[in-house]
Amino acid sequence: MRGLILPNNLAIMPSLIMVLVLLFTPQATCSQMATEVCSDGGMIVSAYPLASKVGAQVLEMGGNAVDAAVAVGFALAVVYPQAGNIGGGGFSIIRTASGADYFVDFREKAPLAASRDMYLGGSGKVIEGASTIGIEAVGVPGTVAGLYLEHERFGSIPWLQLLRPSIDLARNGFEVSAELAASLNSLERYSERFPGLKKFYMVGGKHIEEGDTLRQPRLARTLELIAAEGKSAFYQGRVAGMIADEMKMGGGLITREDLASYRAVFRKPVEGSYRGYKILSAPPPSSGGTILLEILKILEGYDLTSCGPLSLQSVHLMVEAERRAFRDRAEYLGDPDFVENPVSRLISKEYADSLRRTITGNATPSSTLQGSFNIQVKEHLQTTHYSIIDCMGNAVATTTTLNSSYGSKVLVERGGFLLNNEMDDFSIKPGAPNIYGLVGNEANSIAPGKRMLSSMSPTIVLDGGKIFMILGTPGGSTIITTVAQIIVDVIDFRMSVSDAVSMPRFHHQWLPDEIFYEKNAFTEKEMEELKTMGYELSERSSIGDVQVIQVVDSIRCGVSDPRGMGEAASQWCR
Ligand code: DON
Repeated sequence: MRGLILPNNLAIMPSLIMVLVLLFTPQATCSQMATEVCSDGGMIVSAYPLASKVGAQVLEMGGNAVDAAVAVGFALAVVYPQAGNIGGGGFSIIRTASGADYFVDFREKAPLAASRDMYLGGSGKVIEGASTIGIEAVGVPGTVAGLYLEHERFGSIPWLQLLRPSIDLARNGFEVSAELAASLNSLERYSERFPGLKKFYMVGGKHIEEGDTLRQPRLARTLELIAAEGKSAFYQGRVAGMIADEMKMGGGLITREDLASYRAVFRKPVEGSYRGYKILSAPPPSSGGTILLEILKILEGYDLTSCGPLSLQSVHLMVEAERRAFRDRAEYLGDPDFVENPVSRLISKEYADSLRRTITGNATPSSTLQGSFNIQVKEHLQTTHYSIIDCMGNAVATTTTLNSSYGSKVLVERGGFLLNNEMDDFSIKPGAPNIYGLVGNEANSIAPGKRMLSSMSPTIVLDGGKIFMILGTPGGSTIITTVAQIIVDVIDFRMSVSDAVSMPRFHHQWLPDEIFYEKNAFTEKEMEELKTMGYELSERSSIGDVQVIQVVDSIRCGVSDPRGMGEAASQWCR
């Protein structure tokens, strides 16, 4: 259980309506409680308190939500190295105060030398671990290009100033929390294979402990280069040289040409509605928005409110909607620069109606839905999300990742940063599961320069054209179902966002054919009943780390998931 969050800094103390409320979960089934920070000022919610504070400082300096998002992104790369990154990629949804929507795609790409079967041995068998650990697992990073593009288009504060707090945090160091110390020390088991990693997780030759100061002088220098030269430092200049050298030494595929040709791009968010609310979310190359809207459109045909949260009926209907939508994810979705994605069909009312007609009173075995593969889920997950709104009403939702915790575990030694293992998000062989147990087909097969399909779902919900919720979470495949569950909890079950975030979660992804659930989601009796309906159940330690802002009557309430270590920070509007 976590205590109340107090403002970190009185200088960024929010205005008169600042309310701190400790809210209890609606059912006695969940042991964790989410804390809500409400204000009529700017609001930042991220997975690490120091990063939220950096964002609030940028708003305080007069920066807008995009300025803050850029600064938070770089700060997370320093203080939350499990997932915060410059060696990974991600997506942002931006909604301006004037009501224009943008989606920024800075997803990694397959290197130009990549090929469809690069992770298969001679016999066509998947080479165990090749797409998940080590230099061959790395996709061409997109984060620096993405944040640069966001700043170029919407920024109001000089780029250099936005990187300053991260440079300071990296150079002067910051106090390591117990959770971060434990997380960094977990890298020990990779140190034999990647001896350079020791430089990353040890201080002065000894293991990091809670309260130690973590200084990252090499990362500070890298950030200084990016601050001074912009994205070209990373994609053409000295940092590009460091990455290319690391690749050459380790036998990786990424070349200077890959880096120089990388572009972050604007796309149109995928747009749909749910019970009168408008939902903006991630289009391909994320499956997130499409699958989220497909699930919600199926659910719209049921009166979930009368079923109640976590009731047998609502769980059954949500699971059946998720099962069908994830089947479509595996069949149809991939990088829109390479394949056609039938998004408008998948999120249409007609299609939802036809799928609803196949839902009975019992579980539908996944094997009876076409395109079956047989799979298992593996773990070690890490991604991070942040949600921001400024005084003018500009909003940003960003989800960014190295994929697994600390990515490929490959450290660009001279640059002091880790590289992603995002190549595993491709379907490395039709039907072969990735670390999230997700399977795919040709639409998501590897090709040079192609983006791998994602589940990341930065999402904005509008009520009457006004921002109602800004949200997202890590969790691989569970990202989509977690965002869906929060939306249903708030809209159908009329929960506060803190209650919704605190609720135990459950998830189904077609294959494997199981309901994953958090401890206490169901009573023994409910589990028995679900089994009688034909469900298999599998307990998971924890699902997601939601960072959400809800706006009601101009009051912004930020909630950071008690499953993680994040915090909301607010800022006073002048
Ligand atoms: O893009 C994706 O869908 C995954 N690489 C996200 C990874 C993730 O969320 C790990 N988190 N816990």
